[in-house]
Amino acid sequence: MMPDSPSENPFMTGPSTATPSRFEHVPLAVFQSSAEASQAVARDIAALIRSKQAEGRTAVLGLATGSTPLSLYAELVRLHREEGLSFKNVATFNLDEYYPIQPGHPRSYRHFMQAHLFDHVDIEAGNTHVPDGSAPLASVDAHCREYERQIEAAGGIDFQVLGIGRTGHIGFNEPGSARRSRTRRVTLDPLTRRDASGDFGGEENTPRHAITMGVRTILDARRIVLLAWGQHKAEIVRTAAEGPVTPQVTASFLQEHDNVHFVVDRAAAGALTRYRTPWLIGALADQVRS
Ligand code: PGA
Repeated sequence: MMPDSPSENPFMTGPSTATPSRFEHVPLAVFQSSAEASQAVARDIAALIRSKQAEGRTAVLGLATGSTPLSLYAELVRLHREEGLSFKNVATFNLDEYYPIQPGHPRSYRHFMQAHLFDHVDIEAGNTHVPDGSAPLASVDAHCREYERQIEAAGGIDFQVLGIGRTGHIGFNEPGSARRSRTRRVTLDPLTRRDASGDFGGEENTPRHAITMGVRTILDARRIVLLAWGQHKAEIVRTAAEGPVTPQVTASFLQEHDNVHFVVDRAAAGALTRYRTPWLIGALADQVRS
């Protein structure tokens, strides 16, 4: 249940910058497995929901789709079923949705959320928000503005869950997305479409567009946790955590947030300097220099 060392547990430390023993520009916790990491994040979300409940207030969650958060949602469902965690006071806003797509399409993110979380907990249907991939093209801009307004009306996002794509995207903010971007219709990167093509039975059937919260929308969240599992995410995790802040890797903008944690498993941590070339940092580096 614990990450490598207590000092790496994001849920025990406050916001901090990189320590002298690391190259990362964000607080980053490495867990032995994605299951353990997901349990820790779920516990934190449950604590937020319960503390808001005690105050008679709503907990506003920003949610992600894809393979990464599956174990997190499974754990939240377990907490609901076995430990009485209620979602009656929870409102959710999903990051993104393919465009165009019908909400009932088996690959829509609305369908994903119903299947993996909403249908299994006691959340009010009206409190769940996913961008509408079936909005007519002429009204997409208005729909995006309304999505932003709803987030604001809910009091802003308390806890934003993110995955990271191999392009470095958060939501569908592909390379080139501006830091000030808000919810809007975007064109998907070819790599993102290739990664999604298995779900759609080939690239030719994979949507070319999406509606996504913007970088700015995401950075407005009061707390952000980015999850990444597996070796195929190792390079982009290193780039986002150790590289420069650049619109070419929109996850790098998270370095500018003052309450963000990257939560990764050992495989996704494999390219970090502290694992790949540990002699560059800490005591070993001191020895090499002396
Ligand atoms: P994945 O997607 O969770 O399916 O790896 C992450 C993303 O593209 O943001």
